[in-house]
Amino acid sequence: MEISTFVNDLPKVELHLHIEGTLEPELKFALAERNSIQLTHSTVEEVRASYNFNDLASFLTSYYDGMNVLRTAEDFYDLAMAYLTKAASQNVRYVEMFFDPQAHTCRGVSFDTVIHGLRRAQLEAEKNLGIRSNLIMCFLRDFQAEYAMATLLESLPYKAWILGVGLDSDETGNAPAKFTEVFARARQEGYLLTMHCDVDIKDSIEHIRQVIEDIQVARIDHGTNVLENPALVEVLADKGIGLTSCPISNTWVSDGSKIELVTELVSKGVKVCINSDDPAYFGGYIAENFQLVADEGKVDNAFLAQLSRNAVDISWAPLDLKAAIRAEIDEVLSRN
Ligand code: ADE
Ligand code: ZN
Repeated sequence: MEISTFVNDLPKVELHLHIEGTLEPELKFALAERNSIQLTHSTVEEVRASYNFNDLASFLTSYYDGMNVLRTAEDFYDLAMAYLTKAASQNVRYVEMFFDPQAHTCRGVSFDTVIHGLRRAQLEAEKNLGIRSNLIMCFLRDFQAEYAMATLLESLPYKAWILGVGLDSDETGNAPAKFTEVFARARQEGYLLTMHCDVDIKDSIEHIRQVIEDIQVARIDHGTNVLENPALVEVLADKGIGLTSCPISNTWVSDGSKIELVTELVSKGVKVCINSDDPAYFGGYIAENFQLVADEGKVDNAFLAQLSRNAVDISWAPLDLKAAIRAEIDEVLSRN
């Protein structure tokens, strides 16, 4: 995909990025070798060829399988450093990265190992690449709520390094309401709240209603099915609850990019932004996602800049950083 100069230059903010979903096959092989792990595939091409998902569940199988090579703090550092380097090259100024501690603690890798590796990469990337970042800890919704609560408690000594909590993994049969208590406690502890409401999932509207009315999240990850319920769309617009949409990811787990839903939601006053989700698996980082919006949505540069501003607005970045990125977006738009 050819990335236009404008899309590349546009200052960007990424709010929906699973750091474990940035594990490229090349790094997977390098870490497997370092940790003496035998992979089922023998070449990078074979690994990429195995990525033929047609729904969320088939993607998640590959995603969790891939993580098995992540063992030491250095592995998590290398993973995050590779992503932050790529993001900085695409003019991402600020990123809120999801991480899935339970996907590691459940196989014997400690919380401390994971977060120390990620943290070191964040500090180094800020200093050397000028990209700022924060962490959002996601609970796996297909595990018991008790395990999520235990993970929340385990995270408390590292609270200064974690900005918010999210909910991801297999949504079918795992409604937001299962985690009401966990999220109430997370709020009490000072964490900001977001949750996945994946695209075209069974009971999607009821899940979206729960996250807005019962859990009272600040943002929703994906969530574009809200258009099926105009009253909830109005609530999102009125309360400034934003959506983090992931067009390329949508093409893999559903029946299209859903870009037409993004433009419709924006026209109704909902702050939607564009993100990459699991770029190593879906084959596109944030610039490729913006380019797909430009090509398929037939939108102009001003609209792309609006999408980038939406990300700034609904991000949890410090106010001075938000102001600086907005000014830069305006400057790049005025040059084009
Ligand atoms: N975990 C990683 N990526 C995810 C996605 N797109 N939806 C749900 N869980 C995920
Ligand atoms: Zn996601």
